[in-house]
Amino acid sequence: MVSLDQVVEDAKRDFDGAADSAALEDAKARYLGKSGILTERLKSLGGLEPEARKAAGAEINQVKAAVEAALTARRQALADAVLQARLSAEAIDVTMPGRGQDVGSLHPVMRTWERVEQIFRSIGFDVADGPEIENDWFNFTALNSPENHPARSMQDTFYVEGVDEQNKPLLLRTHTSPMQVRYASAHVARHAKDAVMPPIKVIAPGRTYRVDSDATHSPMFNQVEGLWIAESVSFADLKGVYTDFLKTFFETDAIDVRFRPSYFPFTEPSAEIDMAFGSGKLAGRWLEISGAGQVHPTVLRNMGLDPERYIGFAFGSGLERLTMLRYGIDDLRLFFENDIRFLSQFPA
Ligand code: PHE
Repeated sequence: MVSLDQVVEDAKRDFDGAADSAALEDAKARYLGKSGILTERLKSLGGLEPEARKAAGAEINQVKAAVEAALTARRQALADAVLQARLSAEAIDVTMPGRGQDVGSLHPVMRTWERVEQIFRSIGFDVADGPEIENDWFNFTALNSPENHPARSMQDTFYVEGVDEQNKPLLLRTHTSPMQVRYASAHVARHAKDAVMPPIKVIAPGRTYRVDSDATHSPMFNQVEGLWIAESVSFADLKGVYTDFLKTFFETDAIDVRFRPSYFPFTEPSAEIDMAFGSGKLAGRWLEISGAGQVHPTVLRNMGLDPERYIGFAFGSGLERLTMLRYGIDDLRLFFENDIRFLSQFPA
């Protein structure tokens, strides 16, 4: 039989070796349980003489107290360790820098969009908005584009599923020009009972779509349409307004503007507007900036206007192109890649 001193030592070793409270309770049972070593020893006292039993009992009880003390100490140590682990797991490092919230900013093309709106508003133009899914009438037919016009082909235009009330195809608008007829006919209807129709002065910025993709073309791009219809406006007015717009937009008076003959089905005569900077990297080079022209009589009729009475001028400019010239960006694709290194150069 092992000595009582040995029992205390064994118990201490077993308790200290218990890695968690379940293992500790198992170890406790081996010494203090119903058939534990010390319990058995106490039971065996029955066979001793009263004097000897008293002495042996006292000794065993002393040992039992020592084992219980060791048990309590180990229990406390395990509980402390659990608490310590929790505290360090849940610790907050108050010296760590906070998670910053970056400030976003407008996309450079949207800056141009807002700027264009602001400039034209300041000279009395309304700003209109219209659908990107258009029908054949507004995108082509009302704009005097013949049935066989190449722009209508599937190679140039994105057609979408479905047809309109006239059973004509639906498509993603290829330009903002459908807004000319949409806006003007609504304006005409609104003023049907007025003795004099107020002039139409509107711009319509928005997304447009063409089957086209390379360094200078994107399948989605932005245009701004301009329309000015009254009883007496002229190319000179258009040129004056557009030139003034360019000077304000580019923040320089050193800009030359020229109108070069061109062709669009919905304007006659038609022109391409070119501009040249007086200074800077691009100085002296003619840059194509916009299509323009006098609204075709057929288009005026489709707006509900009498071409003998009203005359109109329209232009359509690319917002990406204006943005590239303003900031000296030479690859259109940068606008669509959403690379933060590029976009963050245009802070709010
Ligand atoms: N819609 C033409 C285009 O997308 C531009 C334009 C608009 C030309 C208005 C003349 C008048 O190329």
